[in-house]
Amino acid sequence: MADVPTLAANGLNMPVLGFGTWELDDNTLDHVLPAAIEIGYRHIDTAQIYGNEAAVGRALVGSGVPREELFVTTKVWVDRYEPDDLLASVRESLDRLQTDYVDLLLLHWPRFEGHGMNPTLEGLMRARAEGLTHHIGISNFNIDQTEQAVAFCGPGALATNQVEYHVYLGQERLRRVLARHNLVLTAYMPLAKAGVVNDTVLWEIGAQYNKSAAQVALRWLIEQDRVAAIPATSNVHHAQSNFEIFDFNLSLADHEKIAGLEKSRRLCAPASLSPDWDD
Ligand SMILES: NC(=O)c1ccc[n+]([C@@H]2O[C@H](COP(=O)([O-])OP(=O)(O)OC[C@H]3O[C@@H](n4cnc5c(N)ncnc54)[C@H](OP(=O)(O)O)[C@@H]3O)[C@@H](O)[C@H]2O)c1
Repeated sequence: MADVPTLAANGLNMPVLGFGTWELDDNTLDHVLPAAIEIGYRHIDTAQIYGNEAAVGRALVGSGVPREELFVTTKVWVDRYEPDDLLASVRESLDRLQTDYVDLLLLHWPRFEGHGMNPTLEGLMRARAEGLTHHIGISNFNIDQTEQAVAFCGPGALATNQVEYHVYLGQERLRRVLARHNLVLTAYMPLAKAGVVNDTVLWEIGAQYNKSAAQVALRWLIEQDRVAAIPATSNVHHAQSNFEIFDFNLSLADHEKIAGLEKSRRLCAPASLSPDWDD
């Protein structure tokens, strides 16, 4: 089994391909996550709000893979943003995950009450200082919020902004800002919620390499500088094929064709949580 390449940025050393777990319940995870780890996934993405950290923890411990070879991300939900409560919530996550630390701890959405984001960022930095997480980051922050968070935490403090990114959503301005601050863009919904699967342009590109449209969509992401992808699946065959993206390269012409796809299809924009998106 080949090792997944890792991304290094702001001290981070994160496998470029991870396994997403949103909407996967305990029964599904008990089945698919051990198989995914067996396939070779070492980067697992969960969140407090997914309600599945305990199932993730079971699979991690049950895998027998040494903890230091795994990369585990969880996200603090917005109702635990008061600093002391943030730390308490992370300790609860660690109990459920059966681990002493996560590799990466994110603020799930930029939804702050009257006090603004700084106290919550302070709580996030305390979690890292106390060893509850190795790295910290943000999720769903727009450009202004990213700039504010970087300014408050200091250069090199934040590792990533996890945002929606796929062949149908450009994110060009945000990508430039993240690159300037050396933050990884962790692409969620990298398969556009399976929307890529029957795309004829991706399908035709994949036919050249004996790859599927989904594999082309994932390969396109990880060929970009400082971009990681975390596809989710309940299906072990899909987990296997999503992992088989390290044995081919897209050509410049392929990239140009993908650049020509519509780039404004945002799928995840809950009204109560979303910031003013940049595009
Ligand atoms: N930070 C945030 O706010 C946020 C928001 C959304 C998501 N996320 C993270 O990002 C992860 C990925 O996003 P997502 O799960 O929403 O969407 P996604 O990964 O783009 O798409 C998942 C869908 O694609 C299907 N699929 C996966 N592999 C496939 C394949 N090879 N062929 C055909 N269909 C395939 C899955 O169905 P099957 O089960 O049938 O394979 C599922 O319906 C989440 O699990 C979560 O960890 C984070």
